[in-house]
Amino acid sequence: MGLGTVAVTGAAGTIGSAVREALGREARRLILLDRVPLRREAENEEIHTVDLRDLPAVEVALAGADRVLHLGGLPDEAPLPDLLQANVLGTHHVLEAARRTGIARVVLAGSNRVTGFYPVGHRTGPHEPVRPDGLYGVSKVAVEALGQLYADKFGLSVICLRIGSFERVPTEVRHLATWLSPRDAIGYVRAALTAAPSTRFATAYAVSANTRRFWELPDPAVLAYVPVDDAELHARDIPGAGLPSDPDAPQAGPYALPEFTLEHLTP
Ligand SMILES: NC(=O)c1ccc[n+]([C@@H]2O[C@H](COP(=O)([O-])OP(=O)(O)OC[C@H]3O[C@@H](n4cnc5c(N)ncnc54)[C@H](O)[C@@H]3O)[C@@H](O)[C@H]2O)c1
Repeated sequence: MGLGTVAVTGAAGTIGSAVREALGREARRLILLDRVPLRREAENEEIHTVDLRDLPAVEVALAGADRVLHLGGLPDEAPLPDLLQANVLGTHHVLEAARRTGIARVVLAGSNRVTGFYPVGHRTGPHEPVRPDGLYGVSKVAVEALGQLYADKFGLSVICLRIGSFERVPTEVRHLATWLSPRDAIGYVRAALTAAPSTRFATAYAVSANTRRFWELPDPAVLAYVPVDDAELHARDIPGAGLPSDPDAPQAGPYALPEFTLEHLTP
C-alpha cells in the first residue's frame, strides 16, 4: 500500500530522523515539520519550520496530507507548563488541523511512561488503567485522551503508539525489556499509518520482541506488525544484565523516583 502524502511532526528529532528515509521511499510526498529548521534531502520532501503551539501554521503545513505521524513535543520529564504547551496543546493543534483539513489517519507518539508504575512482574496491556510515572507520563495520558476524543466525537482514525525505549542498541538493564529498535520502530509506524481505515481508535505498545518485555505486543487485528529484534542478543554487553530483577519494582525504573520529578517542580 502506498502511503500517499505523509506529514511528520518533530521530524528533526531522534525518531523522526530515523523513520524519514523509509517513509520517504513509500510516500508520494513527505511533509516535514519541526520548530528547528530542516534541510530538504529528497525530491518529494517539503519542509515547514513551525511551532506546534501555532494552530494556523500547523493547519497550513498539514494541508493536503493523507496521514500524519505526530512525533513533535518534549520527550521527557519537564515542568508541567512546558509539557502542557508542547505535548498537550501541540497534539490538540495537530488533531484539530487534521479534523479541519480532513486527514484520514493520525498516528500519535504516546509513551510507555503512561503505565510506568506497574510492577516489572506484571504483563501490562493497553486497556489497563494508566499509572503514569511522572509529569511527562501525565502529558502523554492527555495526548491519548485527545486522540480518543477526536476519534469518538469527530470520527478521525487515530492510533496511539506507546513507544518503548528507542535506541540504536540497548545499553542498560531496563532496555532489555523496553528496547524499540530502529527497524521495529519503522515497522510499527508503517503499520499504524496503513492500518485499516475502519480502526477508529487504538492504543498499542511499540516494543521490540524482547525476551524480558513487560508489555503486550499489539493485537494483530489492529496493528499488522510483528517485531523482529530482541534486546537479549545484546545482554552480554550490558553491565548487570545477569542479576535477578525485582518483580515488584516499577517498570519505569529510575524514572519512577521522586527526585526525577521533584527537580521540575517549583519550590
Ligand atoms: N525516544 C524514545 O525512546 C521515546 C519513547 C517514548 C515516547 N517517545 C515520544 O516520541 C516522540 C519523538 O521522540 P524523540 O526521541 O524523537 O524526541 P526528540 O526530542 O528527539 O524529537 C522531538 C522533536 O519535536 C520538536 N518539537 C518540540 N517541541 C516542539 C514544538 N512546540 N513545535 C514544533 N516542534 C517541536 C523538537 O524540535 C524535536 O525535533 C516524542 O513525542 C516522545 O515523547 C519517544
